[in-house]
Amino acid sequence: MSDEIDRLIEVHGHARVLEALLPCLSDDRIARIDEVLDARLDSVTAIVEDVYDPHNAAAAIRSCEGLGVHTLHVVEREHTFAASKGVTIGGHRWMQLARWPQVADCAAALRARGYTVWGTLPGAAQSIETIDVSRPVAVVFGNERVGMSEEAIAACDGAVGIPMFGMSQSFNLSVSVALVMNRLTTRRRALLGAVGDLPAEVKDRLRARWVALKIRGAASIVERAVSAATRPDVALGPQSGENSRETVELDES
Ligand SMILES: C[S@@+](CC[C@H](N)C(=O)[O-])C[C@H]1O[C@@H](n2cnc3c(N)ncnc32)[C@H](O)[C@@H]1O
Repeated sequence: MSDEIDRLIEVHGHARVLEALLPCLSDDRIARIDEVLDARLDSVTAIVEDVYDPHNAAAAIRSCEGLGVHTLHVVEREHTFAASKGVTIGGHRWMQLARWPQVADCAAALRARGYTVWGTLPGAAQSIETIDVSRPVAVVFGNERVGMSEEAIAACDGAVGIPMFGMSQSFNLSVSVALVMNRLTTRRRALLGAVGDLPAEVKDRLRARWVALKIRGAASIVERAVSAATRPDVALGPQSGENSRETVELDES
């Protein structure tokens, strides 16, 4: 799902975007962006199938974002994935969402990148404590009412359960996402000996995106900076200091 900021980076490159925008942010804000980027984990990912409750969708995004999961894969068979903004509290802006028509398509793409794909089934013999995390792992979650579809189960390499000790037979969907992702990201980070694993080129691009997301009117600041650099004679750029840390509007939404 590309937007205006993605297009800006596509056209001008992340280095130019950063060159134009970094002077607008304080050192503390830049350090915070870099700290979160360093902790982004690509090798543990979640796939949610046909979620229909916007609160569950939003809670899944918020949990994945908070745990530093780089991408949430969303499969829309019958239901469009729509997250309630009041529940994500902005978390959706910092997550990569990838949309797929079927779990099988997503599983095949991830498997080609070295992931093992696990389905979640209450009562499964393997648990989130025992599955192998020495390779990248993707976990599929089923819909609130019917759980995973037969097609989704067939597309997985195996089934994993969250241990349960009470009378209930399953957890709520978004709670399951949080429990599984919390355990697997913790285990994977311990095995890697690092909090994050994004390749440098992905990080560079994401850094430009996040810096732009923080600044209202980022696109026009970049366009003006590029014009000033390439056509200084005609550039109607800002007066000196116009885009300084003091004058730029930060987007805190
Ligand atoms: C509310 S549950 C769906 C219950 C559905 N009746 C079933 O039997 O799968 C929604 C999703 O949460 C996950 N889930 C809930 N409890 C789980 C457990 N104990 N182990 C593994 N996954 C669980 C699964 O992904 C499930 O599809």
